[in-house]
Amino acid sequence: MATKTARAYTNIALIKYWGKKDKQLKIPYTNSLSLTLDKFYTDTKSEIIDSDKDQIYLNDELLDDAKSKRITNYLDFVRNYFGFDQHFLVKSVNHVPTSAGFASSASGFAALAASINQTMKLNLDNRSLSILARNGSGSASRSIYGGFVEWIAGTSNDTSYAVPIDEHPNIDLSLLSVVISQDTKKISSTSGMENSVKTSPFYDNWVTLVSSEINEIKQAIAQKDVQKIGELSEHNAMSMHALTLSANPSFTYFAPETIRVIQLVKSLRSQGVLAYVTIDAGPNVKIICTKESAEIVQKYIDDNLPAVTTVVANIGNGIQYI
Ligand code: DP6
Repeated sequence: MATKTARAYTNIALIKYWGKKDKQLKIPYTNSLSLTLDKFYTDTKSEIIDSDKDQIYLNDELLDDAKSKRITNYLDFVRNYFGFDQHFLVKSVNHVPTSAGFASSASGFAALAASINQTMKLNLDNRSLSILARNGSGSASRSIYGGFVEWIAGTSNDTSYAVPIDEHPNIDLSLLSVVISQDTKKISSTSGMENSVKTSPFYDNWVTLVSSEINEIKQAIAQKDVQKIGELSEHNAMSMHALTLSANPSFTYFAPETIRVIQLVKSLRSQGVLAYVTIDAGPNVKIICTKESAEIVQKYIDDNLPAVTTVVANIGNGIQYI
């Protein structure tokens, strides 16, 4: 039987993961909660090769040793974890702007974990797949599921995994993604969060804040209260970015246009339009809207900032094999 392609969609954290208790195992300080999106995904196919080296293609380009290091290190981890020694030809196509705050590592490592699961006939259930994906990139643990997903921080490899909150929510929520830059970010999330944990005087407050915001957003999701979901998400994102500004030395992922988009969203909100921002470790902005407000917001951003690209995304599915 031909090996299937594993498809994983990216997710946007509404309550964010920002800091690891255990760097090696990627055990976070806090739970986090995300929404899986339908527009951005990674397709990955892997096959066993008769070689002692993995070959990794990303978007049809064979990666050199330096560029494939994070992936081959991960495959070394997977080999060691399951006790097999085969190497792989991996072909991965990203339908996500790479490394610009769209967490392509989330869909990337989720698709890779699912693909190895397929190729090696590991028959992992979703919980084990989430654990496997987490070892590649923390946010990837959540891309195993569709809809709203919570990553339970846990305290060990076996207890840190994502769980579905509502995989097919019947809720009027759209996400407008505003692509300001497709450039690779200068500070990876891995090192950005590490610097924040080590040097921001507010890190302890962040841990306390997240535990209450997770509970509040779960209530808002159950009540299908998009405005409340937006309010909590925006507040949580701004609090995360405050950890970068208060780090020593201080840094930020914001570009001038990022601030401009935040101002435009606030101005629309003052006119009664439902719109709230969230921002990951990059300059791009995602705007939480309803289906109706997404159109208004998209037109407003396009008119005021013609240089940026806007895409409306809806709620996406979990891992698929095609
Ligand atoms: C801001 O999952 O990319 O997107 O575990 O070090 O690979 P590593 O980090 P990563 O961090 C994502 C950070 C974030 C927030 C989130 O997705 O929860």
